[in-house]
Amino acid sequence: MDEPKILLSLEGIVKEFSSVRVLDRVSFNIREGEIMGLIGENGAGKSTLMKILSGIYQKTEGTIRMDGQLTNIPDYITAKRLGIGIVPQEFNLINYLTVFENIFLGNEIHKGLLLDKSKMREQAKAQLEILKMPLDVNKYISELSVAEKQMVEIAKAMILDTRVLIFDEPTTTLTPVEVRTLFSLMRKLKEKKVTMLFVSHKLQEVMNICDRVTVLRDGKLVSVDEVANLDANILAKKMVGRDFSQVFPPKKDRRAEEYVLEVENLSSGNMVKDVSFSLHRGEILGFAGLVGSGRTETMEAVMGLRKLESGEIRIKGKPVRIRNAKDAVSHGLGYISEDRQGKGIVMNYDIIKNISLISLKDKYMKGFLIDKKAETAASDHYIDEFNIVAASAKSELRFFSGGNQQKVYLARWMDTDPEILILDEPTRGIDINAKREIYEFIHRLSEARISCIIISSEMEEIIGMCNRAYVMREGKIASCLNEDQITEENIVFNATGIKKGVEKDG
Ligand SMILES: Nc1ncnc2c1ncn2[C@@H]1O[C@H](COP(=O)(O)OP(=O)(O)O)[C@@H](O)[C@H]1O
Ligand SMILES: [Mg+2]
Repeated sequence: MDEPKILLSLEGIVKEFSSVRVLDRVSFNIREGEIMGLIGENGAGKSTLMKILSGIYQKTEGTIRMDGQLTNIPDYITAKRLGIGIVPQEFNLINYLTVFENIFLGNEIHKGLLLDKSKMREQAKAQLEILKMPLDVNKYISELSVAEKQMVEIAKAMILDTRVLIFDEPTTTLTPVEVRTLFSLMRKLKEKKVTMLFVSHKLQEVMNICDRVTVLRDGKLVSVDEVANLDANILAKKMVGRDFSQVFPPKKDRRAEEYVLEVENLSSGNMVKDVSFSLHRGEILGFAGLVGSGRTETMEAVMGLRKLESGEIRIKGKPVRIRNAKDAVSHGLGYISEDRQGKGIVMNYDIIKNISLISLKDKYMKGFLIDKKAETAASDHYIDEFNIVAASAKSELRFFSGGNQQKVYLARWMDTDPEILILDEPTRGIDINAKREIYEFIHRLSEARISCIIISSEMEEIIGMCNRAYVMREGKIASCLNEDQITEENIVFNATGIKKGVEKDG
């Protein structure tokens, strides 16, 4: 049998962002014509490595060889000339330009001093036909669906003679049908001898489409294996470096008799119907249910972010009126929204400004001036307490991993000194290590007699963390489960009304 030909070889790749090392001496080879999976938790360094290969970032150290030759990839255009194209995780398309203009962005065809639009239009059309993509080249990007935008990115990456095509988490925003279309396209490209790198953190997908898989963890290479020699369990272990069972700290019941929050007959719109619940001091209380069952809306109503039609809210036994978030904060309520990037952190603010966003007026004003020293000291304290990985307190949040963003968001609310913290999907989209840290943090809160409500669609999380759990269904409380009653079966049954196993016969 012939030795497979090595197309790309990475040796000792290091990447540092202001002296924080995010890739640490990564070395592996990519064979001509293979689909190589690249898998790892959020923040493992996958995108960074792919950006280095496609000329978007520059490596700090290490060498790249292509066809055995030392190769420099100083920018994106050079990468394309070398035959390396990328379909990035965040699309890079210009909304007010057409499909064909985007496909040729940075590689425009000229006729004298002018753009040769008709030639570009023609070639873009031909390219889309080769890829069997049903897209009108004259449409504007703003008119396209996510899957269509991805098609444009693929066509754009393929427009020069592409030998290596990188897909960075291409399936995250696609429906199952669209994923299948993408995979069949990848198989067709493989027949045409295109080498592909497929970045994902979904094990099943990688097992499905790839020939080999490289695992990255914390910026380091863990392994390179043939898919045939792997199963999802082995892969999961390599990815997180430990068993899943160690994720949750041991459960403790630190509930006091006393209630800090009582909600009675709350109704708001058609998502919150006659909801009643209560929260003990020091309790970790779960809210389980399907997406869309009204959990978020219930908490938004409690926080004064939604109009109430009826209901009473009592804090430490006293009825209160909460008309807006400010009222909620003054009653000791804090709320970590599930929409971290939309309703939470400010991406182009640094850590300091993100943390003091709510507490600024109460804590950091000296007359008309901000007490920068106190504000910075507070940030430094939280960076330390939450183990936030950042070059400095002045780093902007957009450069952070999901886990670090979430920690900053938590720090902001801690800075308001809450007695009740409501966390909506607190660990969504963050890596396993940050998850564990957040779970430990919630335990520390309960130790400090602060009460927590966790809304989660991950049953594991409710089961692993909570003393009690309400299950919501269609805007109503379906049941309240206590300690040992918090099981997968009970949650599923109450969330759906369907007994497990009953929906399928046999
Ligand atoms: N431009 C940047 N500036 C600073 N840090 C960055 C930048 N890009 C990525 N990082 C950091 O590098 C680490 C790896 O990120 P990334 O490569 O995006 O991970 P993955 O794609 O595996 O989820 C993260 O901690 C992230 O915050
Ligand atoms: Mg990524």
